[in-house]
Amino acid sequence: NKIAVFASGTGSNYDAIMKAIQQGKLKADVRLLVCDQPDAAVIQKARNYGTSVFIVDRKEYASKVAFEQDIVNALEKHQIDWVILAGYMRLIGETLLQPYQGRIVNIHPSLLPSFPGLDAIGQSYQAGVKITGVTIHYVDEGMDTGTIIAQEAVKLEENMSLEELQKAIQKIEHQLYPATIQQLIQKGE
Ligand code: GRF
Repeated sequence: NKIAVFASGTGSNYDAIMKAIQQGKLKADVRLLVCDQPDAAVIQKARNYGTSVFIVDRKEYASKVAFEQDIVNALEKHQIDWVILAGYMRLIGETLLQPYQGRIVNIHPSLLPSFPGLDAIGQSYQAGVKITGVTIHYVDEGMDTGTIIAQEAVKLEENMSLEELQKAIQKIEHQLYPATIQQLIQKGE
């Protein structure tokens, strides 16, 4: 159960996955962190945990195919079984999708198919919905469109601020993602 986590930002979900592994709740081995933002905070987190880091800068590649092929080579070198997207802000193309069909998973901070794309929490808040939540889904070529694996709802309390909603969503993400990955791994064995 060798996992690669793809992240471009803070890495709080990466952190939650690593903690779940340390606590024995998730029986997996995070072999690689793939990051497309050389300054992202998640890189330092990965170094602290001793996860190998593969930094790939899209600007250094002539095409998306070449960029993704380099990632595939790294995944193959580390014999990765599962690709876990955790705040990776790019669409996955054919080059990566093909060899990892059904083995790439993403987490999104809304109840899909509502509010796909960027700033889903802000979008939901602006829309004034009374219930939102978190979705974990398989990745396909679309933006947050793959088959849904798990969802959990969050109720917006009266006068809840955007910050409070963000915290509530994050709390669910950090519990739901490791638990769902564990279920997928068990089924995939
Ligand atoms: C999360 O809200 C996740 O749902 C979205 O990107 C965010 C990543 O946050 N896909 P972090 O970097 O794990 O803190």
